Amino acid sequence: MNILVTGGAGYIGSHTCVELLNLGYDVIVIDNFCNSCGESLNRVGQLTGKQIKLYEGDVRDEALLREIFTENKIECVIHFAGLKAVGESVEQPHRYYDNNLNSTLVLTKVMDEFGVRNIIFSSSATVYSSDNQMPLCEDAKTGNCTNPYGWTKYMSEQIFYGIAKANSDWSIVLLRYFNPIGAHESGVIGEDPKGIPNNLMPYITQVAVGKREKLSVFGNDYPTPDGSGVRDYIHVVDLAKGHVAAISYAIKNKGCEVFNLGTGCGYSVLEMVENFEKANGVKVPYVIGPRRAGDLAECYANPSKSEKLLGWKAEKGIFDMCKDAWNWQKNNPNGYNA
Ligand code: NAD
Ligand code: UFG
Repeated sequence: MNILVTGGAGYIGSHTCVELLNLGYDVIVIDNFCNSCGESLNRVGQLTGKQIKLYEGDVRDEALLREIFTENKIECVIHFAGLKAVGESVEQPHRYYDNNLNSTLVLTKVMDEFGVRNIIFSSSATVYSSDNQMPLCEDAKTGNCTNPYGWTKYMSEQIFYGIAKANSDWSIVLLRYFNPIGAHESGVIGEDPKGIPNNLMPYITQVAVGKREKLSVFGNDYPTPDGSGVRDYIHVVDLAKGHVAAISYAIKNKGCEVFNLGTGCGYSVLEMVENFEKANGVKVPYVIGPRRAGDLAECYANPSKSEKLLGWKAEKGIFDMCKDAWNWQKNNPNGYNA
């Protein structure tokens, strides 16, 4: 079965390609490498012994999409391509709305033209409103986003609901990711952020490897057990497997359905530092800094709907996440540019 993976060279996309290829799916990737490079796909090839068919280009390029759908009989699309830096989205709202919304609009238009109506979309826990009780179920309140990135995910979900309502042939699965971390256990592929990492785990691994002096813990006065922010970290390989489960679901079920991909367990920033140090026997120097604007005290999932309907459940624990993140970082101190 041919699966088109947009943004397949990126962090989550590359791990999902490995799972798909290992299960015998044929994988076609479109990526413009705006936040990745071809080396991640070479490594996917090394790991699996299988070849990905790559189209280098932009998902907003309608002519290129037509070429892809003409040349390949696609059964399902996984749409990862998007810009994801929250702070950058505040500074460059136009770029974020253009990239993230127009890619979805052009892609679904061309899919419809070619009669391909199965799609899995990368949404985010960021679509949940900040005034919900934890853990978050899929029917919790959404909206009130605090940045353009969050709005692009919220608006994309609305676009997909509209498409499914207008045409009952569509099968759409919206996956709301919590906090993906870690890397493939081989250490051959992993997260390779450009510049200073925005997210906690790549920052921790860069401190541990000596690229950065110390971690700044963004606030220790939240109403959480130790005062630092609590999140639902999920191993990227578990997340990738969630996409495989979503394909089977989409093939069997019409309509538009939303699922949380999280573990249901929350860990604080200080607990993450402690787990990382214990799992790997390395020190992570840190200081307590001020809160980061827009951060919530806590955010974690109720993943039971995914278990019930997708038959998927996260299997890896926090030690696996910390070990695999470190294994990738220490084997690839400069990411894919080594
Ligand atoms: P990533 O930046 O590593 O991967 C995204 C890929 O899409 C990159 O390879 C990039 O080059 C490509 N891309 C972006 N815009 C494109 C376009 N217009 N045309 C073609 N290619 C394009 O990010 P990721 O962490 O792998 O995230 C994948 C998806 O999951 C994104 O949509 C992101 O918003 C979403 N998501 C990520 C997280 C997270 O913490 N990583 C959390 C929630 C949701
Ligand atoms: N943190 C620090 N220091 C750092 C980086 C982060 O203390 O240097 C803290 C944050 O304050 C937060 C926790 O670590 O409490 C996790 O922060 P991340 O930036 O790793 O992740 P977020 O939960 O802020 O955001 C992530 C993704 C977003 C997505 C959101 C919800 O980056 O794209 O989850 O899904 F929208």
